Parts: sequence; C-alpha cells; structure tokens
Amino acid sequence: MINYGLKILLLSLLLGAAVPASAGGSLLPVIPEAQARVSETQGCVEPVDDMRKNHMEYILHQRDETMYQGIRTRQHSLNECINCHVSDAPDAPRASSEEHFCNSCHTYAAVRIDCFQCHADRPVSTAQKLSQPGGGESLLLSADRAPLAVTGGQAQ
Ligand code: HEC
Ligand code: HEC
Ligand code: HEC
Repeated sequence: MINYGLKILLLSLLLGAAVPASAGGSLLPVIPEAQARVSETQGCVEPVDDMRKNHMEYILHQRDETMYQGIRTRQHSLNECINCHVSDAPDAPRASSEEHFCNSCHTYAAVRIDCFQCHADRPVSTAQKLSQPGGGESLLLSADRAPLAVTGGQAQ
C-alpha cells in the first residue's frame, strides 16, 4: 500500500529544496543576524560551529554554576546571548515568534524552551524600559562587566 502522507512529505521536501533559503517557505530556518561580534576576528562567544551544536550545554552549565555555586560571569550568560543576537527595536520579534533568534531554529527543530517566561527575550536595556507581556517584570541578571574572552577557537 502507498503511504500517502510520506509521498506528500517527500514532495514538499523536493519543492522546499528548490526554493532559495532567503525566500519564505523554505524548509531551512532563517536565522536573524547577530547585532555585534565578540571581536573583529571572532563572531560568537565560542566558535560558531560549536555554538550551533552545543549552545544549550554552555548556557545550562552557566545556569548551574550561577544558581548552585554563585559564580557569575558574562561568557555564557543568557543576557549576553540576547544582547548580541536580538534587536532592541521596540517592535522586534518576541521569543514566541519564529523570527526571534532563539526560536528561529527551535521552531524548525520543534524544540520548546521555557527560559523566556523568566528571562528577558530582548536586550536588557530595552527590557528594563518595556514591561514583559502578562505584566511580569523580566529578570535583570547582573553579570560582572569583564570583557568577553576571545576563546582562541577558529575565527568566523
Ligand atoms: C558579542 C556578540 C555575541 C554574543 C555575546 C553571543 N553571540 Fe552567538 N553569534 C554571534 C555572531 C557574530 C555569530 C555568527 C553569525 C552571525 O553573524 O549572525 C553568532 C552565531 C551563533 C549561533 C549560530 C547561528 C547560525 O547562524 O547558525 C548560535 C546558535 C549562537 N550564536 C548562540 C549564542 C548563544 C547561546 C549565546 C550566549 C551564550 C551567544 N550566541 C552569544 C555573536 C554573539
Ligand atoms: C542554529 C540554530 C539554533 C539557534 C539560533 C538556537 N538554538 Fe537552541 N537548539 C537548537 C537545536 C537544534 C536544539 C535541539 C538539540 C538537540 O535536541 O539535541 C536546541 C536546543 C536548545 C536547548 C535545550 C532544549 C532541551 O529541552 O533540551 C536550549 C536550552 C536552547 N536550545 C537554548 C537556546 C537559546 C537560549 C537560544 C538563543 C540565545 C538558542 N537556543 C538558539 C538550535 C538552535
Ligand atoms: C522560573 C523562572 C526561570 C526559568 C523558567 C528559567 N530561569 Fe534561568 N534563572 C532564573 C533565576 C531566578 C536565575 C538567577 C538569577 C540570578 O541570581 O542572577 C536564573 C539564572 C540563569 C542563568 C545564570 C545567569 C546568566 O545569565 O548568566 C542562566 C544562564 C540561565 N538562568 C539560563 C536559563 C535557561 C537556558 C533557561 C531555559 C532552559 C532558564 N534559565 C529558565 C529563573 C529562571
């Protein structure tokens, strides 16, 4: 028997593949570009390939260090991710939108995170001025202001 659902899936994959990545309707996520770089030679806080695969390990590890050991640094701070990756324009997409940096891939990969129920989903200076939806105040977590370390990983 023909698996009709599978045929439709394959067909839409083929059609999707023919659409350039920049056009809507592509199967690939459109990831908003970062607002800044760590340095001229380094984009992200770790090599970008590594971040694509392992960003969750870095932030969850950072969270555990802060929550359980009181260690506060900027390198893998969630606030810093947002400061650098999300526009501070008042109408910039929020965490629930697939145009929000974090949700761009997550929508595509069917990943759900609850982080932004408590953490700011837009740069902290803006979040301070604008109240969060639902009336709650976002957490403003103060990390120390040491400069971000260049990790010596491959530049991007
Ligand atoms: C100082 C700015 C800066 C900070 C802070 C920063 N990033 Fe990045 N990140 C970049 C740049 C630049 C790139 C390269 C892609 C680009 O230019 O948009 C990048 C790439 C990425 C990518 C790959 C995106 C893609 O296009 O495939 C992920 C995932 C990522 N960052 C997650 C994070 C997370 C999580 C944090 C916080 C722990 C973080 N970044 C902190 C600047 C930053
Ligand atoms: C380049 C695409 C991409 C970007 C951008 C991205 N993520 Fe992810 N994220 C993923 C993928 C894919 C997974 C699932 C990985 C897996 O299941 O092994 C994931 C998983 C996670 C997880 C673990 C979820 C769980 O339940 O296990 C967390 C936490 C997370 N991401 C946080 C973030 C945050 C915060 C941002 C924005 C600062 C972000 N991610 C941006 C692709 C991305
Ligand atoms: C119920 C509210 C809540 C949720 C949901 C939540 N957090 Fe937190 N998070 C906190 C609080 C409270 C702190 C501690 C604030 C402090 O002491 O700075 C914290 C601290 C952190 C820190 C350390 C501070 C920093 O940014 O360096 C990270 C990283 C972090 N959380 C990541 C996450 C991630 C990733 C998720 C989603 C998977 C998440 N949190 C979900 C409340 C929450």
